[in-house]
Amino acid sequence: MIRVITIDGPSGSGKGTIAAHLAERLGWHCLDSGALYRLVGLAAGRVGVGLEQPAKLAEIARNMRVEFRDGQVYLDGEDVSLDIRSETAGNAASRVAAVPALRAALLDWQRAYARAPGLVADGRDMGSVVFPDARIKIFLTATPEERARRRYNQLKEKGLDASLAALVEEIRERDDRDRNRSMAPLKAPEGAMEVESTALSIDEVLEQVLERVRTAYPDLFH
Ligand code: DC
Repeated sequence: MIRVITIDGPSGSGKGTIAAHLAERLGWHCLDSGALYRLVGLAAGRVGVGLEQPAKLAEIARNMRVEFRDGQVYLDGEDVSLDIRSETAGNAASRVAAVPALRAALLDWQRAYARAPGLVADGRDMGSVVFPDARIKIFLTATPEERARRRYNQLKEKGLDASLAALVEEIRERDDRDRNRSMAPLKAPEGAMEVESTALSIDEVLEQVLERVRTAYPDLFH
């Protein structure tokens, strides 16, 4: 059995950053499942396929060619790393992610990322649906205000214009949608370790998670 660590949580909770750091520390693979939903949202938008065509959305997911290479993301050969990170792409992803046929189409794909020596997978349903047998499940949270503030700082660093109040509002809307959909809603999976990161640095969160990994897999630290 391949070892899997799942990290779920709302948008802006820092799960992507923690997953990437953890995977690097352990020398494991990393799955950013949100990127897959963002890619479907982008690809669907480009060909004008909407939520009212669930079978088409699933088909797009099955046929798109995705590569994660050197920290960049390619969709059918085109570098879309920046396009999928926008707020618009995040919202489009959250909308298509509520479509059951699409979630089903992405299931085996996500599971195929579990390869030796191990996988760190981040998203909303990694511990509850995609990898329910994972030994270590983390649920990372932070207040909507703190998550909006982090996003605001990221955008400012990139020289982009942003409104903090608008970001708080968008984050709340996205949380509502991700938590209240009928299929695989965002919630802490059973047995998950919950980490509330509002007042913690990345290193402090990482240390808490690593402590858990040391206990579960002492052999990794010899
Ligand atoms: O983690 P993220 O912000 O990149 O995810 C974008 C959207 O994709 C998120 O709002 C909901 C959806 N998503 C999902 O439904 N299930 C996942 N495992 C990952 C993301």
